[in-house]
Amino acid sequence: MILLHILWFACATLVFGLNIPIPLSSPPSAPLISQSLISFSIEQDRWTDWVGATTRNQFFFNVLVNLNQLTGAPPRIRIGADSEDHTNFNQAVQTTQTVFRAITATVPYPEALNITVGDAFYNAAQFLPPNTRVTWGLNLGQNNLTAAFLEAKSIIKAFSSPAIRNSGIVLDAIEIGNEADLYLSNGARPRTYSIPQYVKEWTAFATSTSSAIGISSSSSTKFWGIAFAGSSHSTSGFSPQSVINQGLLSSTAGSAIATVSQHHYSGSFCSGSKGLLQDLMTKSTIRGNLSAFSPDITAVRAKGLDYVFGETNSYACHGAPGVSNTAGAALWTLDYLLFATQIGISRVFFHEGIGYKYNLIQPVTLTRSTLDGSPLPSPLPPHVQPQYYGAVIAAEAIGTSGSTHAIELVINNAQVAGYAFYEGTRLVRAVFINSSAFLKSSANRTHVHLDFEFTGTGAVAPTVISVKRLAIGHADDTSGLTWGGESYETSDGRVSGSLAVEIDCVSAGVDIAATEVVSVSFS
Ligand SMILES: *[C@@H]1O[C@H](CO)[C@@H](O)[C@H](O)[C@H]1NC(C)=O
Ligand SMILES: *[C@@H]1O[C@H](CO)[C@@H](O)[C@H](O)[C@H]1NC(C)=O
Ligand SMILES: *[C@@H]1O[C@H](CO)[C@@H](O)[C@H](O)[C@H]1NC(C)=O
Ligand SMILES: *[C@@H]1O[C@H](CO)[C@@H](O)[C@H](O)[C@H]1NC(C)=O
Ligand SMILES: *[C@@H]1O[C@H](CO)[C@@H](O)[C@H](O)[C@H]1NC(C)=O
Repeated sequence: MILLHILWFACATLVFGLNIPIPLSSPPSAPLISQSLISFSIEQDRWTDWVGATTRNQFFFNVLVNLNQLTGAPPRIRIGADSEDHTNFNQAVQTTQTVFRAITATVPYPEALNITVGDAFYNAAQFLPPNTRVTWGLNLGQNNLTAAFLEAKSIIKAFSSPAIRNSGIVLDAIEIGNEADLYLSNGARPRTYSIPQYVKEWTAFATSTSSAIGISSSSSTKFWGIAFAGSSHSTSGFSPQSVINQGLLSSTAGSAIATVSQHHYSGSFCSGSKGLLQDLMTKSTIRGNLSAFSPDITAVRAKGLDYVFGETNSYACHGAPGVSNTAGAALWTLDYLLFATQIGISRVFFHEGIGYKYNLIQPVTLTRSTLDGSPLPSPLPPHVQPQYYGAVIAAEAIGTSGSTHAIELVINNAQVAGYAFYEGTRLVRAVFINSSAFLKSSANRTHVHLDFEFTGTGAVAPTVISVKRLAIGHADDTSGLTWGGESYETSDGRVSGSLAVEIDCVSAGVDIAATEVVSVSFS
């Protein structure tokens, strides 16, 4: 059922508000937005819990398909991360064998210290939505070439099987090692570990893998390169610039790198200090966190390579309680995704692990708290967390055209970000985010009126707007959001409720409240 709130204000500007100039046609500088901008990185120790071990995990499938339906392409999936470097292969293993680190209040759902997989582990990719493109990580951390080789062989066997091929699921890339820039501090290598050693090891592993499974500069499966936790943003220390300078791309295997992957978190909860929700949401800190990578992106793109955030989320070590798991984080997700497109990041892979605080998706029933590990009074079935709404709104803004371009609008306000979306060159939508945190402890909620002023010529100015709102009680709520009146907090992960759209004259503008997202479709 569609519920239309039709507010027939006279078509004249009644309220004086913030004036938002919007170009009528897409400026030449507007980047093309990938239909799979919103992608996911999955901690591989519990991969078969995500996707399903012997039958499909229907909840995970549904929440991926929701995004697929909105953009016309499924999210891409990278499987790997910390446990990638603790995985060995054993042909005899039917069910993944895992040894987990100790459970603590800071990290209630730790990564596995040791994981042993067999063919079934990789075959489970058949349960992903049709046409999903997958990147899989190999173990470099333990420096065991045999382990990496056997994993690669099993991966290629899985992706050649009818179950995966017939579903159009493809192996996009292989990643070799997770965050090798941390090996010198996490014990995987001596303290003296350096870029030349890394380039030498990567090249040896990639050469062996490419001969095992046929990766080359002309194959459809390529390598993801680098996947570092941080970057010096310069040619000294660990960075894309450094490894490129030191010849990573020069070998035959290196010539099969098509994408550079960077990892990033805005802060860390590793030692239990959580930070403020408002800091995460703030427009300037989002821009600060992303723009720091601009020199890297320039260097990578100059080599003709794609650049992605292959693993990212709010706060490292699975998120901060009361910050990463809240409605405010949904606004962070949306602004982070959209601003990333403006500086040359093609895709953003949100990192997810079973029970992590910063998940968009909790795909299995949980029995202990994600916040402190305490036993839950009753089991918590699969569900989406607030950040998922940020992904849905971005997906809807991108749409299914395959030719969507977007620009950030110039808004002279420290708390409001806005983006305009064009299909081809035609203005179709805009999204506005007020990232001022309205908390349970806040006194009152203020609204500001936005007026639209179309700029440029060559296209007929729209006259009607359809408005959807992300309704949030408080920035520190952890559930109960609705997007255009509808909820994704359902037992099967599919949308439910009555769609609420406000239709009005363009000249009426819109109101936006603190901690709110408003999307405007123009016609
Ligand atoms: C990891 O697990 C495998 C299989 O359970 C076992 O054979 C191996 O010894 C373990 N390795 C370590 C380092 O614990
Ligand atoms: C390396 O991996 C292979 C293959 O699983 C295994 O047989 C071997 O024990 C591993 N070597 C070490 C030193 O762990
Ligand atoms: C990144 O974001 C965090 C808040 O999440 C903030 O504390 C930090 O200052 C930001 N970093 C930059 C470089 O802007
Ligand atoms: C909101 O609260 C502040 C103080 O908490 C007060 O000064 C202000 O008048 C209030 N605004 C409205 C519109 O009620
Ligand atoms: C965003 O919300 C804050 C807090 O209510 C308010 O001060 C600010 O003016 C708002 N900005 C806009 C443009 O809506």
